[in-house]
Amino acid sequence: MSKVTAVNKSKVTVQTWRSRKQRGMPITVMTAYDYTSARFVEKAGLDAILVGDSLNMVMLGREQTNSISMDEMIHHCKAVARGARLPFLIGDMPFLSFQISRKEAIRNAGRFLQEGGMEAVKLEGGVEMAPTIRAVVAAGIPVMGHIGLTPQSLSQLGGYRVQGKTAVAAQKLLADALALQEAGCFSMVLESVPEPVATYISQQLEIPTIGIGAGKGCDGQVLVFHDALGMFDDILPRFVRRYANLSDTIVEAIATYRDEVRAGEFPAEEHTYPMEEGEWLAFLAAVGAVGETE
Ligand code: KIV
Repeated sequence: MSKVTAVNKSKVTVQTWRSRKQRGMPITVMTAYDYTSARFVEKAGLDAILVGDSLNMVMLGREQTNSISMDEMIHHCKAVARGARLPFLIGDMPFLSFQISRKEAIRNAGRFLQEGGMEAVKLEGGVEMAPTIRAVVAAGIPVMGHIGLTPQSLSQLGGYRVQGKTAVAAQKLLADALALQEAGCFSMVLESVPEPVATYISQQLEIPTIGIGAGKGCDGQVLVFHDALGMFDDILPRFVRRYANLSDTIVEAIATYRDEVRAGEFPAEEHTYPMEEGEWLAFLAAVGAVGETE
């Protein structure tokens, strides 16, 4: 029996998120980066897909998130949009695509919708990003904020560190969250924030918070596809729960293929295309190879 429950039958929208918060029903988000992973996430009935810039690490093998380009993000968004219809689709604005000017931010955010098939964008930053967010929202583009640990500023933060651990830092986070809500964000990610702080912020906001490493007091959760499925070993943050260990399964399957090819067990008869004998003999005769059958 399938364990898949409560699969969405209708399109998830910003309004769905709002009503989920009001009803206290957690919002489920996972990243996906291509057609196949998007199909999986949709089939599992999640509420939203984030095409995160984490794809720079888990798909493209780069060390950090901040070297991915707009064109690369759009390329992956298009594939995800082809694979998922019902989840709400959010594209992650890459480093330097929204910081330089509001005009550039609007143009790049618009590309996620126009070219990438996304329905909203996410961008990292607190109070300092509020004017940019206001401008993008005014252009008709839903924006999700992202505060706490913001991986695009990793060098500035001094590495993957929990944010908001002191009373002063927690107050700054709260101020960031309120500023993002005021600027028009429909939601925000809280990443690597102590649970009581994330819970308090979530209670103060009207818009839903989506936590990653922020505890269960958030209005929803997000995980990176490859982390949740055990497909990426370079970094394993404390906040990840592995729901499968696909790395082992995949490597085992590939090694079995290798062994079967070497042993002559694959391809078997059912994987090959036969030829009518008369045609085969005619072919041999035509190439002067009669008698050389088999
Ligand atoms: O890039 C990403 O996948 C993200 C999530 C971890 C929130 O920003």
